[in-house]
Amino acid sequence: MPLPTGPKTSATVQMLNWVFRPMTYMEECAKVYGDIFTLKLQRNLPPLIFIHSPEAMQEVLTNDTKELEAPGDLNDIFEYLLGKNSVISQSGKEHQRQRQLLMPPLHGERMRTYADVINEVTEKAINKQQFNQPWNARTVSQEITLSVMMQAVFGLYEGERAEKIQKLLCEIIEVGSAAWRVALLYFPALQNAIGISQILKLQDRRQELADQLLYQEIQARRENPDPSRTDILSLLMAARDEDGQPMSDVELRDELMTLLVAGHETTATAIAWALYWIHKLPQVRQKLLQELDSLGENPDVNAIFKLPYLTAVCNETLRIYPVGMLTFPRRVKKPITLCGHELEPGSVVMGSIYLTHHREDIYPNSKQFNPERFLEKQFSPYEFLPFGGGARRCIGLAFAQFEMKLALAKILTNWELELVNQSEIKPKRRGLVTGPDRPIQMVIKNRRQQKAQILEAVTI
Ligand code: HEM
Repeated sequence: MPLPTGPKTSATVQMLNWVFRPMTYMEECAKVYGDIFTLKLQRNLPPLIFIHSPEAMQEVLTNDTKELEAPGDLNDIFEYLLGKNSVISQSGKEHQRQRQLLMPPLHGERMRTYADVINEVTEKAINKQQFNQPWNARTVSQEITLSVMMQAVFGLYEGERAEKIQKLLCEIIEVGSAAWRVALLYFPALQNAIGISQILKLQDRRQELADQLLYQEIQARRENPDPSRTDILSLLMAARDEDGQPMSDVELRDELMTLLVAGHETTATAIAWALYWIHKLPQVRQKLLQELDSLGENPDVNAIFKLPYLTAVCNETLRIYPVGMLTFPRRVKKPITLCGHELEPGSVVMGSIYLTHHREDIYPNSKQFNPERFLEKQFSPYEFLPFGGGARRCIGLAFAQFEMKLALAKILTNWELELVNQSEIKPKRRGLVTGPDRPIQMVIKNRRQQKAQILEAVTI
């Protein structure tokens, strides 16, 4: 059966486009080849079949046990950072078991207990900035989300070991985000190139140090067990498999690394993009402030979480430049028909979240930031899917939305910020996710008083 069509250029040209300009390349392909197309990135790798229509997305994401599967081995690309035992690298029963272990602390009442930490670390991170002095929105939001993740995972975000882990993680992610680092994942032969091997050694060293600190933390817990702790590490250490065996130190390390990496960089980027759009479009900021001020002083976290316009702004932020461009890959197990093409077993299907979010038939003027579209229409889970879907849907979905809303509410109601430069910022690849193509520079103009306080001051 012939594969869906795609570019006729050599595998190397396709790979370079994919590594260095993935979003534009996907758009160019969709324009020429439509709802389904094939990229051949390497001669010895299976061709990748890209889909983006909501119908095909639904078929792929809800079909995990029948014709398609999302096997952990297709996620090997994450192994250099997250290890072999991460939930991302598991399949079948083990994958389900790990998800069940990790989900509860990231949802419901347990999740809401992080509200104070989110407020506290947001206040601290913004207060550190000088008035009228530029700062990088992504660096500051990363400081917030990493501290919050440390609290959720370890139950601590202060202290020497915690601070060292945070610093190393930021450095590891920064190096891993470069496009050349992604190219190495696809072209391992390049690793011997002069210069690159030195940088890789340095990265390995940082990784080793981070691992040592994680193992020290695990060891400290083993020596001083405290059954009252509710952080994720404590829960993982208490868990037993079907044979009554606890997780090994290496398994624990891989899971911790997964949560720390997947759980902070993504949300940090989303918060930074939201700050960019809110301050680029004055009418958006004004509407948001009106909504936030209507809650009065010290609003309830649940009330913030439910605000319709804040929700619409967060959704539109995640729609226009989704931090995850793609769902995880799925491998065809039995022949399946997608967008009129019969796919053979062994084919690998990629859901392009980015392309779905830019389909003009779903999102007219898709390049425009327009939160109102989320107030006017309810999109299906296969039209709007920044967190993927199905058995592999992001386990941090609720947590990320909660954190994003609380951090933005805190910043907007307390400070008057401005963008240093109004020129357009575009998305680009940052490792295996996306981010802004240059720093989003902001300044604090003033400490803001809420409307109620301003009115009070005027009447006195
Ligand atoms: C705005 C923030 C975030 C975005 C946009 C995002 C996006 C995604 C996407 C697109 C996937 C792949 C889903 C699929 O293939 O169907 C994913 C998976 C995952 N995410 Fe997130 N994520 C975010 C925040 C978080 C947070 C806060 C955590 C942890 C606390 C987290 C942990 C994970 C994990 C562990 C997986 C793998 C799930 C599995 O294999 O079963 N993410 N995320």
